[in-house]
Amino acid sequence: MTRIFSGVKPTGHLTLGNYLGAVRRWTEVDQHAADALFCVVDLHALTVDHDPARVRRLSRQAATLLLAAGLDPALCTVFVQSHVDEHARLSYLLECVATDGEMRRMIQYKEKSVRERARGGSVRLSLLTYPVLMAADILAYGTDDVPVGDDQTQHVELARDLAVRFNQRYGHTFVVPRAVRPQVAARVMSLQDPLAKMGKSEDVGPGIVYLLDEPDAVRKKVARAVTDSGRDVVYDREERPGVANLLEILAACTDGEPEKLAAAYESYGALKRDVAEAVVEVLRPVRERHRELCADPGYLEGVLRAGAERAREVARPRVDAAYRAIGLLPAG
Ligand code: TYM
Repeated sequence: MTRIFSGVKPTGHLTLGNYLGAVRRWTEVDQHAADALFCVVDLHALTVDHDPARVRRLSRQAATLLLAAGLDPALCTVFVQSHVDEHARLSYLLECVATDGEMRRMIQYKEKSVRERARGGSVRLSLLTYPVLMAADILAYGTDDVPVGDDQTQHVELARDLAVRFNQRYGHTFVVPRAVRPQVAARVMSLQDPLAKMGKSEDVGPGIVYLLDEPDAVRKKVARAVTDSGRDVVYDREERPGVANLLEILAACTDGEPEKLAAAYESYGALKRDVAEAVVEVLRPVRERHRELCADPGYLEGVLRAGAERAREVARPRVDAAYRAIGLLPAG
C-alpha cells in the first residue's frame, strides 16, 4: 500500500494557503487512498526565534485544526513530531550524508536567514539543517508520496537525493519519495502582495486568511485584496497576479478552473464577492468542528498518544536499520 507522509509547522495560525495547498487533499484524497501519516512538526518550529508557550499552544491548535478539517484517526495517523524520537535520531545520520553546500542552496534558508539577520537576530544552526530534519521525517516512514504545496518542492527533492545517496553508499534502506502537488492553489499568494506567498510565519496580517477567521473578517480581507490595473477579468499569472490569485482561490474552493471562471466575470467587485463567499463556505465546517473539538481536549490527547505509538512502530525498524547500515554498533 502506498505510504503518505506530510506535515505542518506550528509557527503561526494555519492559513487558507495551508488548507488549499495541502490539508484539504490530505482529508479528501490521501487518508482514503493510502497508509497516511500527518504530523505537527514542532521541532521545526524551534528553528527561528520562538516563545515556548506559543509553540505549545500553536501545536495543539494545529493538531485540532487537522482533525477539524477532516482527518479521521480511524483512517490515518495524526501525531506530533517531538513525540517520536526517530525523527531526531535519523536526522543526525542524514546530516552525515548531506553537505553544507546543499543546505546553503535551499531557497527557504536563503530567504529566512536574510530576514532573521535584517531583524537584527542571529541565524540558528537548526535553520540551516532544517531540510535534513524534514528529509528524516519523510524517509523514516518509507514514504512514497509527500503531498505538499509548491514551496516545499526543493525540500522534497533533497529528501530524494539523500535517500538515493544513502542507499548507494550503505545499502538499500530508504524508499525514494516524490512530491505531490495540487493542480490549482499549489501556491496561494498574499491578498496584499500577490507576489509573496500567503504564509503563516510571515507578518502581513490583512493579506492572510486564517482558517479560524470569522466570515466578516474573510469578507473584509477579500474585499481589500490588491487587484491589478486593467478592469477585465482574465487569468494571467504573470501580468495579472492579483486577479489570478483570486481566480485560483475560487477555483480551488468550487472545484472549478481558473480560466473558465474568469470568463464568467465582468468586474473585480463581483469576483471578490464570490471569492469571499466561497472561502467562507469552505471554512465554515472547519471552524464549527474546531469549536466542538476544543470543548473536549481529552479526545485530542488520546488521538495524539495513539498516533505517536503507531508512528514509532512504523519508523523504528527502518531507523534502526539505517543505524546498522551506516556502521554503528548495535546496543545488543
Ligand atoms: P508549512 O507548515 O509551511 O506548510 C504546510 C503545508 O502547506 C503548504 N502551504 C501552501 N500551499 C499553497 N499556498 C500557500 N501559500 C502555502 N503555504 C503553505 C506547504 O507547502 C505545506 O505542504 N517544511 C514544511 C513542514 C514539514 C513537512 C515535513 C512537510 C516538515 N517536515 C515532511 C512534508 C513532509 C513546512 O514548513 O510546511
